[in-house]
This record gives sequence, structure tokens and C-alpha cells, in this order.
Amino acid sequence: MQVPDALLEKLQQARHVVAFTGAGVSAESGVPTFRDQQTGLWAKYRAEDLATPAGFRRNPQLVFDWYEKRYRDMLLAQPNAGHRAIAELERHVPRVTVVTQNTDDLHERAGSSQIYHLHGSLMRLKCFGCDRQATWEEGLAQHRSPPVCPDCGDWWRPATVMFHEVLPEWDLSMSAGAVTDCDLLFVIGTSGLVYPAADLPFMAKDAGATLVQVNPQPASNGPAFDYTLAGQSGEILPALLRQAFGD
Ligand code: OAD
Repeated sequence: MQVPDALLEKLQQARHVVAFTGAGVSAESGVPTFRDQQTGLWAKYRAEDLATPAGFRRNPQLVFDWYEKRYRDMLLAQPNAGHRAIAELERHVPRVTVVTQNTDDLHERAGSSQIYHLHGSLMRLKCFGCDRQATWEEGLAQHRSPPVCPDCGDWWRPATVMFHEVLPEWDLSMSAGAVTDCDLLFVIGTSGLVYPAADLPFMAKDAGATLVQVNPQPASNGPAFDYTLAGQSGEILPALLRQAFGD
């Protein structure tokens, strides 16, 4: 893949780059996406049953066990070349921010230093009732599914944002600040269908950023992208770095 010279120059001169990522960036690590036709989680399961507070309360054991399985799979997953390329950008660009919809910790493990998680984290638990945070080790040590909060007696659940829940205020406002400050926004591996996260590329565009989409099946529902690099992020992003910086 040959990246257009004008984009390479933009990247070489960029002061602040934001990588806005979705499930696709982790696909090459073996973490399933949500909406890919055969392999996406929402092709096999109903989001209403598994990713809403009401679904959890209707069938707490089934839902907790489903998240526990995903948590265990994520522990085994390793960052891929796409996560590493995003982390590597920090050696070349003065400021790099990762804004992710993903609940895994693969950007952290790849070495990115500034990361906002719009949809929370599957790598921790929190209490439905009092919001107390807990580790999976604490939860699993109770040997009951789901574990129960020692403070208020409600269920512990994954610290992800479920449908019908509000996004973490700090991460959302810092992300909005980052996308309206950056000169280049990479929109990587997301269908752009879930709001308010999907607003961020529009906000970046309005603020004058150059927008680049990285996706094997580029979406047409986002803002007007200045560049589309069609392909898997684990291949496109390292190629981009090589061509821009000779890495
Ligand atoms: P989706 O499953 O909706 O979209 C994944 C995107 O990744 C699609 O556009 C794919 O074409 C693309 N893709 C697949 N493999 C790729 C690869 N190797 N490299 C790059 N792109 C690839 O996932 P999200 O957009 O992240 O919400 O979904 C948004 C939210 O919906 C998720 O955060 C989750 C879900 O319900 C919550 O957890 C609240």
C-alpha cells in the first residue's frame, strides 16, 4: 500500500494526533468485533440480553459468566501490530492521544501513554449499587456468580458502559478536548454506529482536523474523510509509520 505523499507530510508535521479506535483494532489480536457479519458478537448474541443493565438483572449469572469468559479471553490476547504502531507514533509526534471504545487493555499493553476509554473497562468490576470498584481477583475469590458487594449487597458487574448508561464524564470530555485540538484524526476499526462516541469524528472535522479512516470495509456513515486507507489496521498502520518515518 502506498500512502499518499500529502498524508505522509501531514503526519510528519503533525503536532497532535488522535487515534480513535473501535473493536476492529483488536480483531487481529483475536478479540471479536461486535457487528462483523459472521464473527461479530452481536451476530451471535442479543445486545439487549447481555449489554444492558436490565439484561444483567434479568439473568445475572448467565450475563456475568459471559463477561467472565470474555475477560479471560482478553487476558490471553496480545497487542497486535496496529496497537504497537499507535504506541510507536509517540516517538515521532509531539502529542498522541488514544480515544478508544474498546474495553480491553491492549492499547495500554502496547505502550500508549494517553488513553481515554469511552466505554469503560472489562478488565475491572464495579458495583451496580454503590459504584465501588473491584478487581476480577476479588470478585472471583467469592466463588459466586455474580459476586456481591460487601458494602451494599448489590451485584458486582464488569466496569463497562452498557447500552442505556451514560459514558464516563471525564473520558468523554477529555476525548472531546483532544479531537477538537488535534491536526490529524485516525478513525480505526469502528463502524461509527454508536453514539455519542460516533460524534467525535464530526467534532474533529468541524474543528479543522484532517480525517483518515483505516478499515477493511470503510464505513460510509461517518463524516467526509480526507483519506481512506482500506485494509487491516495491523498492516496499514505499520506501513504508514514505515513510509512516514522510515521505521
Ligand atoms: P463494530 O463491531 O461495530 O465495528 C468494527 C469495525 O472494525 C467494522 O467497521 C469492521 O469493518 C472493522 N474491522 C474489522 N477488522 C478490522 C481490522 N483488522 N482492522 C481494522 N478494522 C477492522 O465495533 P465498534 O465500532 O467498536 O459498545 O462498536 C462500537 C460499540 O458497539 C462498542 O464499543 C460496543 C458495541 O456495542 C459498548 O461496549 C458500549
